[in-house]
Amino acid sequence: MSIDREKQLAAEAAAELVQGGMTIGLGTGSTAVHAVRRIGERVRAGLRIRALPTSRATEALARELAIPLVDFSQVVTLDLTLDGADEFDPHLNLTKGGGGALFREKIVAAASRELVIFADSSKRVPELGRFPLPLEVNPFGWQVVAAKVAALGAEVSLRQAGQQAGNAPFVTDNQGYILDCRFGRIPDPPALHRQLSGITGVVETGLFCGMAKEVFLGEGERVLRLSPRP
Ligand code: A5P
Repeated sequence: MSIDREKQLAAEAAAELVQGGMTIGLGTGSTAVHAVRRIGERVRAGLRIRALPTSRATEALARELAIPLVDFSQVVTLDLTLDGADEFDPHLNLTKGGGGALFREKIVAAASRELVIFADSSKRVPELGRFPLPLEVNPFGWQVVAAKVAALGAEVSLRQAGQQAGNAPFVTDNQGYILDCRFGRIPDPPALHRQLSGITGVVETGLFCGMAKEVFLGEGERVLRLSPRP
């Protein structure tokens, strides 16, 4: 069973939560692509919804699929957001931002009555920290933030855009930089989120704590629906 098949099964199952009349947030990443495509098929078949994308990439796909779009000048409350994650723990705390969209993903999730996550089986962990934690930072003074995060015990690297982009820093949809922070273990995600959020220059952390209502987890040919462990 391939990981991509698990992503597809989980994302397509979660896409069935969308009901006519809803305003929904559309997540970002390779798993979210499956959900957006499925929602596009449902729109083509007559489903009436409005959607707010969490990245330019998702916006482009949604436009291609003729999914009606809105922005925050039109709505400030969404019914449901469907998104992926890089890791989730038994409390459904999440690490997000592997694709660099964490700020838009978090503000869209925060505006939503419900956040539902879809994930393949590699994303389920007993404790967050294996995946480097992405932090969106302001480009001015990013070195100061990096030094402060390193002092908290992380190995910190500035994300690069890749060789094709001339080894320049990766720039987010909001013109921010991303620091990938290897803490190894994150035993108390809400406490780390608070600590990092207090550093001037941090735009947002990739820790989504107490936000996800449910995870649709692809495991082989099955999709499990997980609720947060108290
Ligand atoms: C984007 O910034 C991320 O938060 C994604 O939602 C996350 O990285 C999951 O991506 P995949 O579905 O591609 O694994």
